[in-house]
Amino acid sequence: MIKIRVPATSANLGAGFDALGLALGFFNYVEMEESDRIDITSADGIEVPADETNMIYVAARDLYEICGRKLEGLKIIQTNNIPMARGLGSSSACIVAGLAGANHLLGNPLTQDDLVDLAAQIEGHPDNTAPALLGGIVTAVFDGRKVHWVKQEVYTKLHFEAMIPEFELKTEKARACLPKEVSHKDAVYNLSRAALFSASLLTGKYENLRTAVHDKLHQPYRMELIPHCRDVFDTAYTHGAYAVYVSGAGPTLMAIVDEENTFFKGKMEFSLENAGIHGWKVHDLLIDNEGTKIINE
Ligand code: HSE
Repeated sequence: MIKIRVPATSANLGAGFDALGLALGFFNYVEMEESDRIDITSADGIEVPADETNMIYVAARDLYEICGRKLEGLKIIQTNNIPMARGLGSSSACIVAGLAGANHLLGNPLTQDDLVDLAAQIEGHPDNTAPALLGGIVTAVFDGRKVHWVKQEVYTKLHFEAMIPEFELKTEKARACLPKEVSHKDAVYNLSRAALFSASLLTGKYENLRTAVHDKLHQPYRMELIPHCRDVFDTAYTHGAYAVYVSGAGPTLMAIVDEENTFFKGKMEFSLENAGIHGWKVHDLLIDNEGTKIINE
């Protein structure tokens, strides 16, 4: 069996809606081998689709088809550390694991660029799939067929504190609440901040991040779907976060903090419980620069 390691991802990064994303050192693992039937289980007891609707299987089957091979079946064992429907790229991790695993099983007929394109074609947007494959922070434009991307490795003293509530929010619901049109002024508001985010993160101008994560395209609408969202934002800023944003489609809220802010996680969890805001867990994460890896054969 091969074993694939895929990182969690945080998309949008505030203003970079459908364009910016980064990989985090928090991983799903997928063991995979060809089989004469579909045999899908999870190693950690988390319920996963065990039939042909499983996204890892779907992605692997698509890749086989593109390569002119028929996939009879697959044995898959999933370890799902990335919580589902929380804005941390769990669906993308499945798609990417299926593609990377199938490509490896076939002797790597497709290039990394091919995989980035295919993953976005399956998922619909590239800002989770591309960093899941490539690692680092990825700027991506998807023209409907091809992803035009830049990956930058990030070596910072920043920590990403994923504040994860116990409830789920499906991406379809979190996209359905968005406006169909925005004003020219709001478009400028966002594109200037998205550009500011990447430049500031990569050059260490962290004092810009709080301004850079503001946006008018998605967060104001999605915050209404996340109970206690504003309280969690305010608490994170009180505890010294450089910036706080809705991770992907939510409901996870991401705080970017300095490595010297060592007690952020404990202080957040304590403050939220004290304020009667229950069920939020904080994961202290770093950027993953490696992306998807086959870690054994
Ligand atoms: N950019 C996407 C969104 C990420 O915000 O809907 C979730 O897949």
